[in-house]
Amino acid sequence: MKRCNAYENNSMKEVLGETLRPGGFSLTEKSVQFCGLEPGDTVLDLGCGMGATVGYLYDNHRIKAVGIDPSEKLLGLARKKYGFADFVLGTGENIPFKEDSFTGVFAECTLSLMEDLGAVLEEVFRVMKKDGWLVISDVYAKNPAFLKELEEIQFRSCMRGLHDMELLKEQLEGLGFGIMLLEDRSDLLKSLMAQIVFSYGSMNAFWNKTTDNCAKVCRFQEILKVCKPGYFLMIARKGDADCERYGV
Ligand SMILES: C[S@@+](CC[C@H](N)C(=O)[O-])C[C@H]1O[C@@H](n2cnc3c(N)ncnc32)[C@H](O)[C@@H]1O
Repeated sequence: MKRCNAYENNSMKEVLGETLRPGGFSLTEKSVQFCGLEPGDTVLDLGCGMGATVGYLYDNHRIKAVGIDPSEKLLGLARKKYGFADFVLGTGENIPFKEDSFTGVFAECTLSLMEDLGAVLEEVFRVMKKDGWLVISDVYAKNPAFLKELEEIQFRSCMRGLHDMELLKEQLEGLGFGIMLLEDRSDLLKSLMAQIVFSYGSMNAFWNKTTDNCAKVCRFQEILKVCKPGYFLMIARKGDADCERYGV
C-alpha cells in the first residue's frame, strides 16, 4: 500500500500553521529556558519540517540551529523562509553529522514517525556532546496495550507511532540519558483536536483530507481512541547527570 507524508499536505498546514505539532512554540521556549541554551550552542532540529523551530531559536535567542528532514518539499519551504540557516536532507536513523556535534537536539513531534526508534536514539546519543540536552515533545499512548494494532495500519501520521512511555524511558536510560523533566501536556493535543474539529467538522473528515488513501481512516480512528492518545514534554541529558523525575 502506498504511504503518504501527511505533513506535506496543505490541510495539515492550514490547521497547524508553520509548526506541525501541538502547542506551537510554547514547549520550545520552555525547553530553551530549562536547558539554559544560549547563542553559540550547537543545536539540531531533528525532523525540522518547514524549519519553524530553527527560525524561532534564531529570532528569539540568536541560537543558530541546523535542521534535518527527509522531505525535500518541506526542506525547500524551510530554505526559502530561513535563508540564514542550514537545512540538510537526512533521517534520524542516519544523522549526517559527526560524534559530539550538538549541545541540544530538538525532536518535536517527530520520533513517533520514525521506523526504528532504537536506532534513532543511538544516533542522537552519538551526535550529542556530553551533558547535551535532548528535548522530545510527542504523542504517547495512555493505554499502550493496543499499540501493535495501531502500528500495523499503513498510515503516515505521528498518531500511528504513539510512544509507549515506559519503553521510551527504558531505551533512553539504557543508552545513558538521564531524564530531567517529564510533563504530561495532553491539554495541547486536546486543543489541537478541538481546532481540527472546528475547521473540518470531525477528525475523520480531517484525516480523509490529509491522506490519499482513505480506506483505513475509520479503523485507524477506532484503534486510536482505545490507545487514549496524550502528549508530553521530556527533557533528557546525555551523561550521568542527577535525574529529577516527574511522573506522567
Ligand atoms: C509532525 S511533523 C513535525 C515537524 C517539525 N518538527 C515541527 O514541529 O514543525 C514530523 C516531521 O518529521 C519528519 N520525519 C518523518 N520521518 C523522519 C525520519 N525518519 N527522520 C527525520 N525526520 C522524519 C517529517 O518529514 C516531518 O517534517
